Amino acid sequence: MLKSKIAGIGHYVPETITTNDDLAKVMETSDQWIQERTGIQERRYAKKHEETTATMGTKAARIAIERAGITPEDVDFIVFATLSPDYYFPGCGVLLQRELGITKTEIGAVDIRNQCSGFIYGLSIADQFVKSGMYKNVLVVGSEMHSMGLDYSTRGRNVTVIFGDGAGAVVVQPTEDANSGILNTKLHSDGTYAEKLAFVSPGSHGGYHTKKQGYDTEYGFDENIEYGEIFVTQKMVDEGQLYPQMEGQFVFKLAVTKFPEVINEGLTDAGLKASDIDMLIPHQANLRISQFVQKRMGLRDDQVYNNIMKYGNTTAASIPIALCEAWEAGKIKEGDLVCLAAFGSGFTWGSALLRW
Ligand code: UT7
Repeated sequence: MLKSKIAGIGHYVPETITTNDDLAKVMETSDQWIQERTGIQERRYAKKHEETTATMGTKAARIAIERAGITPEDVDFIVFATLSPDYYFPGCGVLLQRELGITKTEIGAVDIRNQCSGFIYGLSIADQFVKSGMYKNVLVVGSEMHSMGLDYSTRGRNVTVIFGDGAGAVVVQPTEDANSGILNTKLHSDGTYAEKLAFVSPGSHGGYHTKKQGYDTEYGFDENIEYGEIFVTQKMVDEGQLYPQMEGQFVFKLAVTKFPEVINEGLTDAGLKASDIDMLIPHQANLRISQFVQKRMGLRDDQVYNNIMKYGNTTAASIPIALCEAWEAGKIKEGDLVCLAAFGSGFTWGSALLRW
């Protein structure tokens, strides 16, 4: 039976390092608070006005393409996962196509908006296209440039200190080798708590949210506002609503339940158990979440790879960056059982189980 495998992987992180002390200069926070609560020591910020989500994604993609032994012209489908796109529209997929110099039009490009689980959703989409025989070289990219859109005042500190910039990419190809490739992917969603971790304004709701922190769906409307005037209002600017918002503890509690659940779901489906995992790459949301999941799954330190200490949470890019780093460091070898898992905004979550 036709399966799919990761044939090439690459990542890119910008050069500029922003430390916790750098952030403490502009907002009320401290290196101690950030490290204790999240494990993060520093993160990367892209070069303002030079780099974008699409250009970083392109850098990662070029490496993945080369390692897969193909050229950009061989790519026949692009899946681009991001929550921080260059434009509202069009999506980053076509911008990446252009940056890669792919001029042929016998290619499709899709952007997916699944935040932290974006890469796993993207990998699953690629897996289905490849297994069905429709495409032979699917490029999956996760890239984020958070730095441009964060609130650097104390008001935004609970979110801002967590996020960083970067990109990762893989090329997914068909394989007939029964002993390697993607064994399964498991995807979930629950929209009940959509606003617990969200960036809601401006939007087609045409209002402004009325609770600043931990808000549910409650909007305020100015009756005098006309069509065309409602997209960004002065009130949104004044109240700092044009930033992501998160009810951290709520998200944390769900994350530590859903990670083990979805990892076990994939393992059970494949007739495997936690001790069979050679490398777990959890989405890098918070080192404390990863440690909790590791303990719950009964895994040793060498069975889990974390790099949030250096990069913060890079959302859709975090898994491919970590996977790439672990592979480059020789921590993932041929035949290893690799598990990827993520949970985040939506809420959406998922896992992917692969034989490397
Ligand atoms: O990747 C997508 C999924 N996201 C996640 O999985 C994130 C999950 N949540 C978390 O990782 C944690 O909730 C955070 C790291 C975001 C926050 O940690 P926490 O222990 O849940 O803190 P908290 O939000 O409950 O805030 C505790 C206190 C508050 O002060 P008071 O009200 O107790 O006086 C905050 O105002 O810490 C304060 N605080 C900060 N203090 C210094 C919040 N952010 C900061 C900060 N520096 N950066």
